[in-house]
Parts: sequence; C-alpha cells; structure tokens
Amino acid sequence: MAPLLRLENVTKRFGGLVAVDRVSLEIDPGEFIGIVGPNGSGKTTLFNVINGVYFPEEGTIVFDGRDITRLQPYKRAPLGIGRTFQIPRPFASATVRENIAVGAMFGTLSGRVGVDESLEIADQTIERVGLQEHKDKAAGSLTPVEKKLMEIARALAMKPKLLLMDEAMAGMHPNDIDQMVAFIKEIAQEEKIAVVSMVEHIMRAVVGMAERVIVLHQGAKIVDAPTKEALENPKVVEIYLGHPPEGQGC
Ligand SMILES: Nc1ncnc2c1ncn2[C@@H]1O[C@H](COP(=O)(O)OP(=O)(O)O)[C@@H](O)[C@H]1O
Ligand SMILES: [Mg+2]
Repeated sequence: MAPLLRLENVTKRFGGLVAVDRVSLEIDPGEFIGIVGPNGSGKTTLFNVINGVYFPEEGTIVFDGRDITRLQPYKRAPLGIGRTFQIPRPFASATVRENIAVGAMFGTLSGRVGVDESLEIADQTIERVGLQEHKDKAAGSLTPVEKKLMEIARALAMKPKLLLMDEAMAGMHPNDIDQMVAFIKEIAQEEKIAVVSMVEHIMRAVVGMAERVIVLHQGAKIVDAPTKEALENPKVVEIYLGHPPEGQGC
C-alpha cells in the first residue's frame, strides 16, 4: 500500500533556528498517529509544512501520490488535508451550523457542493459530534469544549483523507477527552481518515487513540514506533522526566 503522506528529510528554519530538522515519516490511509514532543519541539511547524502555511527549505512532501512540497495551502484542503487549530478561530458571529458548513465548502467537495448541500453535511456532522442543541447559536457564545467540538466537526465536514489535529484536546477534562477520542476514532474508521494528533504531553488521548507515536525533540524525529514501545523508549522517558533513566549514564 502506498503511504497517504510521505515526508522526506524535511527541514524548516526560522532564521538560524532549525524548527523542523530533516524529518522523514510515512502515514498510511486510515492510520492513527500521535506526534508528541515538549513545547518548542517543532510540532506546530511540522503541521504547518504539511498543510502549506510554510514551505520547507529542504525536503519533499508527497500526499496521495502527488508532490505538494510547494503547493499553496488553499489547494491542499481540496486534496484531502483537513486540520484543526491549536486555538480555534471560528467566525464568531456566524452560527455553529454555518461555521461547519464552511468546512464542507472548502474541503474535498469544494466546487462540487452548494450552500444547501454544505448545510446538510453540517447537520450530519453536528449530529455525529452531539452539538445539535447548539447548532443555531453564534459560534462565539460556545464554551471552550464546545468550540473544540465545533472545530473538529468543521474539519470532519471537509471530508479529509488526512486530519491534522494540533493540541485539539489540550486543556479538556479527561471525560470529555475519552468521549471525543471515541467518536473521532469511530468516524475516522468509518470514513478511512488518517488522523495525526499533535500534543505536548503524552496524554490519554494519544495513548487511547494512536497506533503509532512519533516523538519530536528539538525539531528532529527521535522515535517512531508502536505506541506502547514508543512510550517506554528511554529517550522518551528522558525527555519527559528531564533526566536520563537509571543505568543510562550521566
Ligand atoms: N513563526 C516563527 N518564527 C520564528 N520562530 C518560530 C516560529 N514558529 C515557531 N518558531 C520556533 O520554532 C520552534 C518550534 O516551535 P513550534 O513548532 O511551535 O513547537 P511546538 O508546536 O512543538 O511547541 C520553537 O523554537 C519556536 O520558537
Ligand atoms: Mg504547538
């Protein structure tokens, strides 16, 4: 099976700072990947070179068989790259339903669905994520958890092949996380969406959802392994505990 996404030696610098350092990775259709790493390790930047906010100085990005390394960001969503933002930025005065419909209009169906059909897709997605009672409210009036749900619904309404979630569940109550993980997993499996969830802390969302974990440290990929194996890796333990595990010297 050809990978859905392939990065080869991707480097992104800001001046002298190497934010993403020769990262290579592959993601298969329908896979669940957790990308973890401390604050400043390059997660958001990696995410932004995949969705085209930044072009890398070096390396290649291939999505669904197509080289997208220097493709404009607005041309990536129609190919099937959906995203959520670390800080949701809804159209605050538009309704929840309208915000989600915008996702449908700019996703893989863009140019093929009109307003009515987009609203229909929004209604279906709203039901999936359980926002029915809020759908006609102004997006700006939602609680933070509801905003995150709306953000995920908006991304799902894009009908992506790959969903990039940047700290989508950070700050949420564990019960809400469990619920959200359950339905993202269900929808993604049904619709064969590959999900890449980026989080600072190794949290239950990653452990519960990801089949594989990629660990970034100072911009470089240091571990890429099945979740349990990755979390037990001494390099990962060292990063998160701040000192080397016993028997590893220093
Ligand atoms: N637009 C930018 N300009 C300059 N430096 C940046 C910019 N965005 C991120 N960085 C730097 O790149 C590094 C990686 O940041 P980031 O990708 O946001 O990490 P993470 O999401 O893992 O916290 C950090 O050192 C950060 O300060
Ligand atoms: Mg970040």
